[in-house]
Amino acid sequence: MVEATAVERVGRITHNCVGIYNDLCESSIKKTLKQARSVAPTNTSFGIQLANAGRKASTQRPQEGRKSLTYEEDPWITKGASPVPIDIGWHVPHLLSQKDMQKLKNKFVEALIRSVKIGFDLIEIHGTHGYLFHQFLSQISNKREDKYGGSLENRMRFPLEVFSAINKSLLKDFPLGMRITGTEWEKDGIIESEAIIFAQELEKIGCHYVCVSSGGNTPNPQIPIGTHYQGSLG
Ligand SMILES: Cc1cc2nc3c(=O)[nH]c(=O)nc-3n(C[C@H](O)[C@H](O)[C@H](O)COP(=O)(O)O)c2cc1C
Repeated sequence: MVEATAVERVGRITHNCVGIYNDLCESSIKKTLKQARSVAPTNTSFGIQLANAGRKASTQRPQEGRKSLTYEEDPWITKGASPVPIDIGWHVPHLLSQKDMQKLKNKFVEALIRSVKIGFDLIEIHGTHGYLFHQFLSQISNKREDKYGGSLENRMRFPLEVFSAINKSLLKDFPLGMRITGTEWEKDGIIESEAIIFAQELEKIGCHYVCVSSGGNTPNPQIPIGTHYQGSLG
């Protein structure tokens, strides 16, 4: 699986993240995939994870500190479900308007078309680790007062709309899944019962699998780290 691959330039996490939003990105990834196929065992399947970092965009690489980029580090304006930063000192994202959301949906579809053209066998949508779709799903980061905020039904609406648009652009039965959040390890965050409902809604619109992960949307989640700590989720 190619790691979180941004569908637009401003959706990258760092300056160094991979993206699939123009012809140069497409030809570079195509070349890399060809090289990977040439050394992989026959019949190896290759997937790509399409992503948008939302309010967690414009940050330093892990080895640089993982904080929002400073003025000297050439930051960019971020957009999120609501103008709520992940923590003190982080970028305050601009609110994604419904017009922005339509444009972004089209960017996911464009990235998907490029991915299929390149020759990937599977598409995964990144819906966890505090990135954009996670931000919409969580009451911690989604404070919207329109039809995309409030109830779980409303918070799921944008991720489901994008997923549905993607699925409609694919040939029937093309492998398509989503990485989702099983829990945020927070009192007011996403809980397992919500994750199950989200997964069921995804299944109705053609999702073949979910890969359940957790956390990433708050600065200090109380994670009971240990062997198989995520094993009982979902
Ligand atoms: C350096 C690094 C890069 C990662 N990149 C991605 C990614 O692109 N997409 C993703 O869904 N998870 C990514 N993850 C999260 C891992 O897939 C995994 O869910 C996480 O590390 C928790 O599992 P663990 O406790 O076994 O490490 C990354 C993790 C690390 C440490």
